[in-house]
This record gives sequence, structure tokens and C-alpha cells, in this order.
Amino acid sequence: MSKLRIAVQKSGRLNEDSMKILKDIGISIDNGKDQLKAAARNFPVEVFYLRNGDIPQYLKDGVVDAAIIGENVLIEKGNDIRVAEKLGFSTCRVCIAVPKSVDYKGIQDLEGKRIATSYPNTVKSYLEKNNISANLHIINGSVEIAPNIGLADAICDIVSSGSTLFKNNLKEVEMILKSEAVLAVSPLLSTDKQAILDKIQFRIQSVLKGRQ
Ligand code: PRP
Ligand code: MG
Repeated sequence: MSKLRIAVQKSGRLNEDSMKILKDIGISIDNGKDQLKAAARNFPVEVFYLRNGDIPQYLKDGVVDAAIIGENVLIEKGNDIRVAEKLGFSTCRVCIAVPKSVDYKGIQDLEGKRIATSYPNTVKSYLEKNNISANLHIINGSVEIAPNIGLADAICDIVSSGSTLFKNNLKEVEMILKSEAVLAVSPLLSTDKQAILDKIQFRIQSVLKGRQ
């Protein structure tokens, strides 16, 4: 019987809670931080530990069948991928922030400004909707430092506790979207694997109910 391939974040905020929900639904896997894949001992599932940003493409190509991933990443990179279930953890929002000292009056203040972000598609479509044109600088991490080093006037990144914004003297001025971890499914999923996924989804729903 073929195994369902599930991608989870290799390291970072989602990893721990992703492994926990798999454990809670009775799928036991060695949390092999050093291996890139691990088979479940008691269920036809294989877990792939991947970089967040790569997961949408793996889903599109059918390299993995399903993934536990932040909705924000799917929106940025994989808008044709189906969300089977919202998982209720790793909640965050994608926001635009500016230095605290800026007297921000509204989105028109971003016209012509430089915005540093790891979410270019998300920001672009938000700005277009609001008829604003700005210059995007794409950076992959530590985005909040950009205004302090003179690289940008504003940033767009995920905010969870707000502590990174606070530490970098920034304030949130636009909330673009809210996000949480989701179970996402490849458009190429086969029927036999869909049956495994159905079982997993049923178990997830019971666990989520129990957590409420
Ligand atoms: C993430 C994100 C924000 C921060 C938000 O960065 O890019 O910077 O967390 O969380 P907070 O509101 O609770 O502070 P991460 O620490 O993962 O590092 P990176 O941006 O360098 O990848
Ligand atoms: Mg960051």
C-alpha cells in the first residue's frame, strides 16, 4: 500500500506544534531533526521535513500529498492549493509596520515608499487593491531591521506576539491578513491516498474538538 507523504516545517515555529498534532492523532514518528524524512511506525504515512517556502511547490508538483503549513505561506506562494482543515495553532497576521516615530495617517502614506518584505505577492496585491505603488525589497529574514539600517521606510512581515516589532521600534499600521496552521492538500492526490487522508482528517477533527 502506498504511503501518504506529509510535509512539515523542518525547523521554526510550526515544527513543534505540527509534530504534536501528528502525535495527538496517534501517528508516532521519530522526530528526526537530522533526517529529511521519517516513516510512521503505525500508519501508512511518511513525514518530510522541508523548508516552509518550498512546501507549496512540492504540493503543486505532487511530490508531497499533504502538508501542515501556515496559511500565509500558501497565500503567498500557492493560491491554487486546497486547505482541507484549519488547525488552530500558529496564529499570526501579515502586517505592514513603520517606525514608531512616523506620523502615519493612512495607506496613502505608503505611496512611493520602500517596503522590505518576505511576502512580495501578498503586499503587491494589497497595495494594488488600494491603488498604491511602492518599491518592494525582498528579504528572507530579519525583515524588521530594514528601517533601522536605512534599507526601507516600512516592512511587511508576520506578527505573532508583536515582540519583534516592539524590539525594533516599529508599529503595526496595516493588517493584510490573518493566518494559522492548516492541513493543505496536493491537487494531484490519488484516490487511495485520499482514503488515508480522510482517516487523518477525521482524527484531527476529534483532537481539535477535544482542545476547545
Ligand atoms: C518571524 C517573523 C517575525 C516574527 C514575528 O521571524 O518573520 O519577524 O517571527 O513574531 P513575533 O511577533 O512573536 O515577534 P523569525 O523569528 O522566524 O525569524 P526570521 O524572520 O529571521 O526568519
Ligand atoms: Mg522575522
